Amino acid sequence: MAHQILVLNGPNLNLLGAREPEVYGSDTLDDIIANLTTVARGRNAEIRHVQSNHEGGLIDALHDARTWADAVIFNPGAFTHYSIALRDAVVATELPVVETHLSNVHAREAFRHHSVISAVCLGVVLGFGANSYLAALDALIRHLEA
Ligand code: DQA
Repeated sequence: MAHQILVLNGPNLNLLGAREPEVYGSDTLDDIIANLTTVARGRNAEIRHVQSNHEGGLIDALHDARTWADAVIFNPGAFTHYSIALRDAVVATELPVVETHLSNVHAREAFRHHSVISAVCLGVVLGFGANSYLAALDALIRHLEA
């Protein structure tokens, strides 16, 4: 049975490629998901992708993941820094979740240095652009197979 992995992206990440490419790179979200899907297939994993600009949409996707997913790669966007509701939803999944960011948030504005999500995640990957998602996928598969 292939590992079932939810890739969940939060607000403004639908604009990747066009939004601040000097910070987030020139790959679109479709490019990133297509590449991740191909890599996952070679590793006995299947990806389902959800992007929402709404906190409630992300919470619903996390609740739904309880019924089918083995793990979650989660980029909560700016919600990372203040959404207690998303933190609680991560806990409620009872799944291994990797918080994932394209940018190195610690090298940016002070308000991005704190995450309310990290402490309830299995781990965090940040700063590698689109490759952050690949690193998160690799770490999760190794975790699931350990
Ligand atoms: C981000 C970092 C957040 O601070 C920011 O609000 C984003 C993207 C990243 O992937 O680097 O929307 O999560």
